[in-house]
Amino acid sequence: MTIGIFRSLDKIMTDHMDTSPEHKRVLVVDDDDELSSLVAEIMRSQNWEVTTAQNGRIAQQILKTTSFDLVISDIQMPEMNGIELTRLIKKGNKKTPVILITAFHELLETHEAHSAGADEFVPKPFSSEDILLAVARCQGKAAEKETKESDYCRVAIHDFVSGRQINYSIYLRLSAEKFVKIAHRGEDLSTERIQLYKTKGVKHLYLHLDDFRRYVGFQINVLKMTKDGPTITEEEKRELVTRTHELVQEQIRREGIDPNNFDSASEFVETMISLIADDADLYDILKSLNSHTDYLYAHSLGVSVYGVLIAQNVGWHLPTNKFKVALGGLLHDVGHREIDVDLLSKPRRNWSLDELNKYEQHPLRGIDIVKQLPNIASDVSQIIKEHHESCTGKGYPNSIRRSMIHPMAKLIAVVDEFCELVISNPDSPGMSPKEAIERMFSLDTEKFDAHFLEALIKVCKVPIPEKLRSTRMV
Ligand SMILES: [Fe+2]
Ligand SMILES: [Fe+2]
Repeated sequence: MTIGIFRSLDKIMTDHMDTSPEHKRVLVVDDDDELSSLVAEIMRSQNWEVTTAQNGRIAQQILKTTSFDLVISDIQMPEMNGIELTRLIKKGNKKTPVILITAFHELLETHEAHSAGADEFVPKPFSSEDILLAVARCQGKAAEKETKESDYCRVAIHDFVSGRQINYSIYLRLSAEKFVKIAHRGEDLSTERIQLYKTKGVKHLYLHLDDFRRYVGFQINVLKMTKDGPTITEEEKRELVTRTHELVQEQIRREGIDPNNFDSASEFVETMISLIADDADLYDILKSLNSHTDYLYAHSLGVSVYGVLIAQNVGWHLPTNKFKVALGGLLHDVGHREIDVDLLSKPRRNWSLDELNKYEQHPLRGIDIVKQLPNIASDVSQIIKEHHESCTGKGYPNSIRRSMIHPMAKLIAVVDEFCELVISNPDSPGMSPKEAIERMFSLDTEKFDAHFLEALIKVCKVPIPEKLRSTRMV
């Protein structure tokens, strides 16, 4: 166990030292003598008078005759566990704060303990700093920093690749105001641990917003937001996030797509939207996509969500790559906002040659729009520029060769065509995934990259069309 007892102790003592002349009393409850002594030592170093008890039952007896200013207890103990003890304390004297020490496998118990009224949680392995900060928060001497839901980003549990050291602290959400740290930065997240979380029904974990930005490699233009740019109200952001969620769930989710995989991809995209909506420039772009035509935002979201699904299917699990695919999918048609709504609302078969030529400039118009944004990765710009290039070399706007097309643009090209067919628009009433794939195969499949086409077929769980089988693309 890596318990850094003396780490930062001097600073903590200065910051949180109890300066009152009388000693305060803490009851430390743990059946593990080593851990109990450790917590007692940390508390005595702060002039607390410490009493120890080996389990909840003994603690209950002591509490009948002695009052305490604080209880620090383990959860798993014989006779009476920490949750039952918390319940008893809170029933008797609600004012006594209770800090529970939790192990990673006690996730469900942590939820229960929160409902029972536990004030703070300290995950094992802990440092003296963790204990003293929890104590200080119970005493109102340290600001409660981790209380706003918007300070955290949700990540589907499948996204945590097991067996890898984590660079971020990971949290479990107990309520809108309460998040408990369940893994420290620098720990190894084992396969067993991920599996245990899943079997306990945990679908999401949380990262701090700043950590999430690093996790996906995206920094917002904070300077512009705080000094020069318009500020986005929480209300505006909430409306956009709600609209996004509704569109994804109602118009983009399709029968035949595995709901677990779909949920994981759509949650990734929804989290991305709430993250990028903090950037003033990107928020303006999202707003314009949302208001330009009825279907443009739905189409863009569809390409983003299905893009992430395909990325997952071909093994692009790195969060930074998934984020680029998601953002590229969302912004691929941003150039549409410079095309007349009247033209985009007409079926393409009714377009004149001039109108078609104008339309085919939209990838270049899109690049003009995003090139001013410093936080857009070059891969995302290439997705925008090349999403209509073709593996036959006859795409637009530049008719570049297959080998020159960015792999993420090839992926988005497949998903773009698919979404044109499955999400309703002036050219399609909205087909099923099976019908859409059949339609794609009745057209010119050579223009698509076979690897991503095959991944789409797998994601949609439709039989492999004869044309793909016969060309030995799989
Ligand atoms: Fe396009
Ligand atoms: Fe598109």
